Amino acid sequence: MQDALADLAWLVEMGADEVLEDAPINRFEEAAETPPAPVRGPSPAPNANPAPVAALDAAPASTQLAQAAPDLDALRSAMAAFEGCALKHGARNLVFSDGQAAARVMIVGEAPGREEDRIGKPFVGRSGQLLDAMFAAIGLSRGAEDPTQALYITNTLPWRPPQNRDPSSDEIALMKPFLLRHIALADPQVLVLMGNPASKTLLETTTGITRLRGTWAEVMGRPALPMFHPAALLRDPSKKALAWADLLSLKAKLETL
Ligand code: URA
Repeated sequence: MQDALADLAWLVEMGADEVLEDAPINRFEEAAETPPAPVRGPSPAPNANPAPVAALDAAPASTQLAQAAPDLDALRSAMAAFEGCALKHGARNLVFSDGQAAARVMIVGEAPGREEDRIGKPFVGRSGQLLDAMFAAIGLSRGAEDPTQALYITNTLPWRPPQNRDPSSDEIALMKPFLLRHIALADPQVLVLMGNPASKTLLETTTGITRLRGTWAEVMGRPALPMFHPAALLRDPSKKALAWADLLSLKAKLETL
């Protein structure tokens, strides 16, 4: 029993955390039974990274769909119906947003993880618990009704990348029009860009978060503060002092607006 539990824990740790079939399939047996394919001429070179043809073809569609959405509900529906991004097919739920859309502060994270994919809301796992504690320390929360104390939270990508891998630049480029429209429709006074993908995407830079964090920038005509992602703070608690300085900077900025 202990061994079975240990095996299960190991599988979850390795990212095999979804049940796809009622009964297990032995792929080794299948491979042994399948006759080798006939060889006709030289076989093509294996391509570990196939060109994201669908992604590139779908880019104009995501721009048009995003632009056509008159409000947040329509944007959510347009994203849910969008078939151009392969991540959708490996995800359980579209993760659109949480908190209050009228909040002064909008947080943009990276992409859903396992818990977010399961529940359909951003930042509900360990990173989310830390994020909530961080913002509570400066009087902001996703549950607040008063927009001056509320948060609105979304991600750069609305679907979980398989095994929580980093989002690819094609996936981000494809979904960026939806993110820009999301910001335009929510119209926050201030943006907080959590981690590398959000900061690099919205600031259109290749500079990493370690150099960007703490320096106010502008995104779509409003102040934007890049910060370390809470997951980075969980990995390296010595970064928490810098995150605290950034939170105080955000608090001070809100007092001036
Ligand atoms: N990390 C993110 O960037 N977003 C989430 O929603 C969860 C974890």
